[in-house]
Amino acid sequence: MGRLENQVALVTGAASGIGYACALRFAQEGAIVVGFDRHECPDWKAVADAAPKSSYVVGDVTDEPTVEALVRGAVSEFGSLDVSVNAAGITGGGPVHLLSLEDWNRVMNVNATGTFLVGKYAAGAMMDQPGGGSIVNVASIEGVEGTEGGSCYSASKGAVVILTKNMAIDYGRRNVRVNAVCPGFIDTPLMRATFDSPGMAPARERYREEHKLGRFGKPEEIAGAALFLASSDASFVTGHALVVDGGFTAGMRAGVLEPLGL
Ligand code: NAI
Repeated sequence: MGRLENQVALVTGAASGIGYACALRFAQEGAIVVGFDRHECPDWKAVADAAPKSSYVVGDVTDEPTVEALVRGAVSEFGSLDVSVNAAGITGGGPVHLLSLEDWNRVMNVNATGTFLVGKYAAGAMMDQPGGGSIVNVASIEGVEGTEGGSCYSASKGAVVILTKNMAIDYGRRNVRVNAVCPGFIDTPLMRATFDSPGMAPARERYREEHKLGRFGKPEEIAGAALFLASSDASFVTGHALVVDGGFTAGMRAGVLEPLGL
């Protein structure tokens, strides 16, 4: 018996990286997964093999009629929406005096407004169900502490964290739990695109080192945390921003204990 047996789970950003890892893990745990992304998913067959009723929709999280139709379609096809993982996101940033309004709006629109729109319709569906539901927003450690040049990306993820907490307050009495997972640096196409740009190799190593486990994370490690928050194991957890970052935000490591082999 899977941990999400017969639950209906919407996963945005399901074509790639963290969203795809969530879709696959949730399918393996018995969920019917509705994947959503602006791109087709080259590996969706593995999800469909694990959970044959699963479906996949191409669309944009910033388009309100699309998101409304997506949620309504899932509820009418499967009878409920039990879990919503909001992983669709893009990167961007730079010091603000160099940042165009267009770039600011682009990042805020997908990461913050997209999360709002999916949350709006997901919470709206879940609050009227006897079983309630669970929303898991994929924020970032950059939503809980600043990053060099983070600007619009950090602001968008900070917005996701506080929106998560506010929604947890608003929908708790209707049995809808709302949590965020805040990943450190996870080896996905998004992260690789950031670090593969010219001159970023030294920064890549600095960032890797700052994870106290000495490595970047894997998408499956975020899927495991999202699964916990989505499942009944987290039945008393709401309004929480769960940092999953290999110790990145634990504090500074200066190498003082290296002579002791630590
Ligand atoms: P990714 O680039 O591998 O996957 C993101 C997916 O979102 C892509 O499939 C993309 O097509 C989709 N997407 C982007 N804009 C969309 C839109 N407007 N409508 C629908 N789908 C859209 O990236 P990754 O790393 O898997 O990121 C997933 C989430 O995790 C993002 O919200 C990201 O900000 C967050 N995150 C990632 C970290 C990392 O180091 N990879 C660290 C912390 C947070």
